Amino acid sequence: MLEGLRSWKTRVLDRQAQLLGFLLLLKSGKGFKGGRERLLVGDGKRFKVIVWGTGFVGRQVVRMLLDHPRFELVGVIVHSAEKDGMDVGTLCGVAPVGLAASRDARAVLSREAHAVAYFGPTAQYLAENLSNLTLCMEMGKDVVSTSMTPLVYPKECPTAIAGTLQEVCQRTGRTCFTTGIDPGFANDLFPMTLMGVCGRVDRLRIQEILDYSSYAGDYKPMGLGQPMEYRAILEEPEVLQFGWGMTIPMVADALGVRLEKIDSVWEKWATPVEIRYEHGVIPAGCCAAIRFEIRGWVAGEPKIVIEHCNRVTKAVAPHWPKGKMYEHDVYRVIVEGEPCIEQETALRDAATRDANRAGCLATGMRAVHAIPAVCAAAPGLISALDLPLIPGFGNMRDP
Ligand SMILES: NC(=O)c1ccc[n+]([C@@H]2O[C@H](COP(=O)([O-])OP(=O)(O)OC[C@H]3O[C@@H](n4cnc5c(N)ncnc54)[C@H](OP(=O)(O)O)[C@@H]3O)[C@@H](O)[C@H]2O)c1
Repeated sequence: MLEGLRSWKTRVLDRQAQLLGFLLLLKSGKGFKGGRERLLVGDGKRFKVIVWGTGFVGRQVVRMLLDHPRFELVGVIVHSAEKDGMDVGTLCGVAPVGLAASRDARAVLSREAHAVAYFGPTAQYLAENLSNLTLCMEMGKDVVSTSMTPLVYPKECPTAIAGTLQEVCQRTGRTCFTTGIDPGFANDLFPMTLMGVCGRVDRLRIQEILDYSSYAGDYKPMGLGQPMEYRAILEEPEVLQFGWGMTIPMVADALGVRLEKIDSVWEKWATPVEIRYEHGVIPAGCCAAIRFEIRGWVAGEPKIVIEHCNRVTKAVAPHWPKGKMYEHDVYRVIVEGEPCIEQETALRDAATRDANRAGCLATGMRAVHAIPAVCAAAPGLISALDLPLIPGFGNMRDP
């Protein structure tokens, strides 16, 4: 009886899904790539993925893809000579999987795949990134990337970058989506979702409150660990706004308001005592925390503000902003309006509870989960504003 009821329910749900799928397919002709059906959430399709870059982000993503029902890892491209030929499982700290990483990008890209998930070097490596992204598209692959942060909002990205890649997209018929956590979903998807349930938005503040001490990357561009008189590259307002500020015009466009200007504020905090942390030492008198704001001005006021408060160890700069739910390592969105909304998001690694590790995995997975929608989108550079809801199909499975 129960079995009969279950199969009846399944049949009804299947029928409804078919009907919905049919209606959506009917509506999907315009704007999508010729000859490619619209890919629906829950359609059961598997996407073949090549991962390029096995740093902090790439290695974590590869581990997730090894048994993911939605994605099939068909290749891994590495840069460093010592990783060339290594088994991908071994490279990423798990058992061997019988797939070798390779430095031969062309050979890997010639494999059949829907998309490349690109986790190459930072935006400072402009020429390398542009050339790699171009190669992916020329070899017939759509791309999701976390590497060129100014491309999170291509419309505002300088033409020398966005224009060049846009031309490649049109020539090759491919689509490229750039994302991350910040810039990325913490300051585009999260606030834009909250704004969408408001009747009026007066002001928006988006905060990253993060202790960087477990992050092995280079702190020098932020000036962390440097003497106080050292002028870090990100202290230059243009560089800061270029690297981290592109989600401000995206949010302004989402709200339909005109930005008068974008400016920024930069503060640094000197530690009175030496700090020893996981990846080094900060001498007394040197910079152990920075706080910056990138401010989008609307109607004479800074109404759309991104704020970072980045410490090296939790004890430093005690008077600077902290979270409410968790004092440290949170992303907060504060919407002032009708209604007022505060959202605090704490990402933690399942095994170690580390926030940087978790944030970097989420950075990569936001990109990977976008692949079905990116493959279905019209050729071009796209942003979060162009994507449908991406709920993480296939994620609920045995660890
Ligand atoms: N928006 C955000 O919120 C956000 C957050 C985190 C990271 N990111 C960005 O995501 C990217 C990956 O981050 P990550 O933490 O994994 O960085 P990472 O640890 O420095 O790894 C970058 C990888 O790039 C590869 N690489 C270096 N030079 C290359 C070149 N010339 N051509 C191709 N590949 C090259 C290396 O690959 P192999 O080691 O495989 O040789 C390296 O491991 C970076 O661009 C980073 O800025 C963005």
